Amino acid sequence: MSKVQELEKLHKKWFKKCQCALKETATRPVPGYGNPEAQIVFIGEAPGKQEDIQGRPFIGAAGKFLDEMLGTIKMKREYIYITNIVKYRPPNNRDPLPKEKEDCIDWLYDELNLIKPKLIIFLGRHSMSNFFPDQKISEAHGKLLIKKFKNIKTENFLPLYHPAAALYNGGMRKTLIADFKKIPKILEKIKNKNPQ
Ligand code: URA
Repeated sequence: MSKVQELEKLHKKWFKKCQCALKETATRPVPGYGNPEAQIVFIGEAPGKQEDIQGRPFIGAAGKFLDEMLGTIKMKREYIYITNIVKYRPPNNRDPLPKEKEDCIDWLYDELNLIKPKLIIFLGRHSMSNFFPDQKISEAHGKLLIKKFKNIKTENFLPLYHPAAALYNGGMRKTLIADFKKIPKILEKIKNKNPQ
């Protein structure tokens, strides 16, 4: 079975298995999407309105901004994989509750263990705090964090501000664009340390 087929099978399994209460109010699940051979996986928070309608992550305003930033480092979406902590849209885009995150989290770990990216990029504090609850996004953004976890193979993490938060905040927007430009060098450094 190819990795694309394995990923499809994984999502199909979780469409049935996931017990998240947001299933009741969301239109459809929004599984991660992209290249299963990706070296970089981006993790956002939860689907918004457009994502809920179309079933793909980051296709609304925040997604367009993300594409713009990927363009500045000449990285196409086809090269990466994007997913969310929570796979169903919370009503009115409220923050997902701890139980809703918990009920979706093994789906995320399954995705990460299939793809085994060299670098995981957190988009926003909700995504980061699942892995690094003691870090503050205002201090950790743009800095490579290295840590071994029991349930995933990846050891390199880069927290960034969430594109939706940065869209309408000039200072944060500049910082996010500057942090984005660090990605190619960070990835090179990781690959040089762990060749193959
Ligand atoms: N914001 C997110 O965190 N995820 C999406 O998929 C869209 C917007």
